[in-house]
Amino acid sequence: MVSNPILKRPAARLTELPGWAALRVHQQEIQHTPMRQMFAEDGNRFRDFTLKQAGLQLDYSKNRIDRSTLGLLAGLAEQAGLAEQIDGLFGGAALNGSEERPALHIALRNLGGRPIEVDGRDIMPEVRDTLSRMEKFTWRVHNGQWRGWTGKPFRDIVNIGIGGSSLGPKLVSAALRPFWNHSVNSHYVANVDGSHITEVLKYLSPETTLFIVSSKSFTTPETLANARAARHWFLQNGGEDSELARHFVAVTANRKLATEFGVREENIFPMWDWVGGRYSLWSAIGLPIALAAGMDNFRALLQGAHAMDEHFRTAPLTENMPVIMGLLGIWYHNFWGATSHAILPYDHYLRGLPAHLQQLDMESNGKSVTQSGEAVDYATGPIIWGGVGANGQHAYHQLLHQGTHLVPADFIIPLRSHNPIGHHHALLYANCLSQSQALMQGKTEEEAYKELCSSGMSNAEARKLAPHKAIPGNRPSNTIVFRKATPRTIGALVALYEHKVFTQGAVWGINSFDQWGVELGKQLGRRLYDKLLDPDEDVPMDASTAGLCQLFCDADDSI
Ligand code: F6P
Repeated sequence: MVSNPILKRPAARLTELPGWAALRVHQQEIQHTPMRQMFAEDGNRFRDFTLKQAGLQLDYSKNRIDRSTLGLLAGLAEQAGLAEQIDGLFGGAALNGSEERPALHIALRNLGGRPIEVDGRDIMPEVRDTLSRMEKFTWRVHNGQWRGWTGKPFRDIVNIGIGGSSLGPKLVSAALRPFWNHSVNSHYVANVDGSHITEVLKYLSPETTLFIVSSKSFTTPETLANARAARHWFLQNGGEDSELARHFVAVTANRKLATEFGVREENIFPMWDWVGGRYSLWSAIGLPIALAAGMDNFRALLQGAHAMDEHFRTAPLTENMPVIMGLLGIWYHNFWGATSHAILPYDHYLRGLPAHLQQLDMESNGKSVTQSGEAVDYATGPIIWGGVGANGQHAYHQLLHQGTHLVPADFIIPLRSHNPIGHHHALLYANCLSQSQALMQGKTEEEAYKELCSSGMSNAEARKLAPHKAIPGNRPSNTIVFRKATPRTIGALVALYEHKVFTQGAVWGINSFDQWGVELGKQLGRRLYDKLLDPDEDVPMDASTAGLCQLFCDADDSI
């Protein structure tokens, strides 16, 4: 049991708060005023709907908002207790109600030294101690003091973990590729599909490979299967049992199972139950980031996140970047019927962002009961999807422009490239802006018709084609700009999204820090696995599942 207080929530249901009704009315008032018109009527829209913080600039002017919308959204947030919940987050309240725990990822980048208590005990000394252990370890690996069993320095780090024990560090390692300053490559194995680890290990040498087994619980079957496969590979390729300790370290909250697996006590980096997996890249789960990009860059990443934390903690709601992004999401999902949200980084190094944000957002806010267990009567977390720009423009952006779904989008782009070849970056930047501009402005059928006529087409042909070329427009987006993708800006960017997700979960009154929904699949998966290995095993199943199991057991070659 934690002694940390559990927050009190407003007694009224979210949809019964006065702010909810006010927003409904407001939506009806502005629904027929397209953003195009709002831009034409208000020359200061970009200036006034822009916010700079922690090295990021958010342009939220291309949203279906007028000058009163944000105030109304903030009104709802206040009535829903957002400010108290932000205080609770930073004060260590047990925001994860179903597991009676605080969610203290902010402690991992609390560089100001402010004490943070769990059960009356300051956790900051442990956090600092872990950082210095990471520092020593990376230093030893980089300087050849920690070597493989034949005395060669490590060339490859393989992180074995899944979900939060993979996606965050994988995103950040790739994002910091220009900062990889040591001759160590990092690889990530997550999938239990044997092809993943096989393909990764195919080109590596056991003599120069270091494995990090990352699992908060150390019970995740996919991770354990991959860790066993890695150990087998090591032993089959010249490694001795006695040398395993040099080649396997672990990051976990379950020391017992990690030592049983064969990792030495002193090679285990800690995790804590007050950090959720999807919020853990700032902890020792980020060890592969530090090994790839160096500990100074890892600390700079924490600094960027801390700067965003401080902004989120102290700025008024209407001037608060994560709050604004969270509330805009609520605006679209609860008042305009949007069901998904696109993440479109225009930066090759940020290609892992959509996948990380998918877990962060959907595992956090994919809930249908409130903290007190009542069914919600409003939409919660959206479907998060996306991919790297400009590639998406030649694939799924068609649906964004002309499809029947309303999909709010975030465009994310640096002003300068790490690789300024030719005019590539201007081309990329223009591509990015063209998309948000086209989404906002659209093209009426009449405009399309006139364009076609002036290109020499007959009136009749132009009339026929114009409906196909018309673009509805008025489709909302945010644009997040930063000078360059550095450790600080990446830290701030990821923390921005963490707090955006928090804002939404807090207003919706749901628990953003548990993930019971994934448990049933795990439970059933264990029984089905037994069944596949032993067809005589008595496992209750529906006809479809039974039929599909049988196909596996028969390895039916008629398919
Ligand atoms: O099953 C979901 C989940 O628990 C995620 O929340 C977590 O990030 C992932 O699995 C991995 O868990 P672990 O770090 O305990 O192996």
